[in-house]
Order: sequence, then structure tokens, then C-alpha cells
Amino acid sequence: MHPEVAAAKAAIESKLGGRKPTVGIVLGAGLGPFADRVENPVRIPYGNIPGFKPAVVAGHTGQLVVGAMRGKAVAALQGRTHLYDGYTAAEVAFPIRVLDAIGVKILLVTCAAGGINSQHRPGSLMMLEDHINFMGVNPLIGNAQQENGGVRFLDMSQAYSSRLREKLGDAAERLKIDLRPGVYVAVTGPNHETPSEVKAFGWLGADAIGMSVVPEVLMARQAGLEVAGLALITNWAAGISVRRLAHEEVLQTARTAMESLSKLMEEFIGSL
Ligand code: HPA
Repeated sequence: MHPEVAAAKAAIESKLGGRKPTVGIVLGAGLGPFADRVENPVRIPYGNIPGFKPAVVAGHTGQLVVGAMRGKAVAALQGRTHLYDGYTAAEVAFPIRVLDAIGVKILLVTCAAGGINSQHRPGSLMMLEDHINFMGVNPLIGNAQQENGGVRFLDMSQAYSSRLREKLGDAAERLKIDLRPGVYVAVTGPNHETPSEVKAFGWLGADAIGMSVVPEVLMARQAGLEVAGLALITNWAAGISVRRLAHEEVLQTARTAMESLSKLMEEFIGSL
């Protein structure tokens, strides 16, 4: 194990009192409050974990929240770093290597995204069925694969496991939540796209666009974790709608969608 991963693992495990989380959750922008649903939480600020970079979320710098949810031992990353913060892809994906090291087997990644396909309107939820890496970087370049025993030429034909996609679909059906599958394209940001870029991504097969997820999923797949992904569509991507959404309308749809997203995540985790 890489010494930096080992140091992070030791720092975390010293706080867990024997808890062994098996389900990891990455909470994207605005989705941090989901971590409040974790029972008997142990909260470890990123600043206390070697190798973790500060991730700005709602007034603090990010924390790992370990506890229980629907009978499962979970570890939620409340706050993530982005490439646009100036970190490398390997730094952005580092917490995933640590989740793997502490015993996590299943990873649920969440994010906010802009809708490209008209079926993925603001306020709706999208299940990631695949992604397109348009970031121009990759956390697996270099030595990481030797350090954590993963393969170099990683197969990505099941980036998002069909078994977990089925479970997400079943959970949504039980809760009567509209959940549509879609392809996520990842860019570095920080600027939003031009209308021409969005049009091009649509032609390439993307249904929604965002600035995260992909480095973490690449790292998770290399580590052998099974991955599921959910996107909360917060806005139409540039040029898709003729009218700009009023900010208050966006906030309102986000609040409503956040409630169904949280229920869906809990139901899904309970079904694992
Ligand atoms: N583009 C890129 N990332 C995003 C968007 C978008 O429109 N909305 C939320 N994250």
C-alpha cells in the first residue's frame, strides 16, 4: 500500500472504534446535507486525514462521515475537490483509494449536472449509465496502478455496474421517483460551456454535463469497487433553453429534488 494511503487509513481507523464501512458515498455540490442522515456518525475533518485536500462545502472544509444507514455501514465524503480548484486528477481521486483501503466495496457517487438532453430537465434525477471523459486528464496515469495493485489497461465497459443500476431503478420504482438513465460528460470547468460546446457534446451522446465524478470513478474501478452514480440536474446546459431559469426557481427545484434524491439514496443503500 502506498505510504500516503496507509497514513490516511491509519488516521481514519484510529477514530472508528472498529467500524468497518463497506458502502462509500461521494456527496457533490449542494448534496452535503445527505450526510446528516447517517446514524451514530463519526465525523473526521479532511484536515485530520493525511493526503486529503480541503474541499469547500457550506462553510467548512469537508469531512468524512462514517456511521450507519438502513443497517449498512457507510462512509460519506461530505465535500469533494475538483480539477478546477487546481488539484491534479490523482489528488481529486485520492480519497477513493483511501475508501478502498478501509474496506469499502461499493461506491455511490453523486453530482450536480446541467441537462443537455431535453428528457433531463432541471429538478430531475439522472442515473449515470456511462460517462465520457472530456477532462483531458486521468488519475491512473503514472504509478498509481502499481501502488494499489490495479491493472493499467483497465476495462471500463461496466463503469457503472448493471447490477447496481438495476437496484437504483428498483428503488426509484418503489418510491415512485422518476429516474432516467443517461450519459454524463465531464469537463474541467470552471467556466460553464459555450452553447456550441453543449451542442457538440449532445451530438457525441451526452445527456448531462458536469465537472466531477470521472476521476473518482476511474480510481474506484481500478481499485475494484462496484460503482453507481446519480446526478441532480440543476440547470439546462448553456444554449439548451431559450430562457434563463430564474435563480429562485433553480433553488426551489434543487430543494425538491434533494428530498427525493436523499430518499432514493437511502432506499438504494438499504437494498444493498
Ligand atoms: N455545466 C457543467 N457543470 C455543471 C453544470 C453545467 O451546466 N450544472 C451543474 N454542474
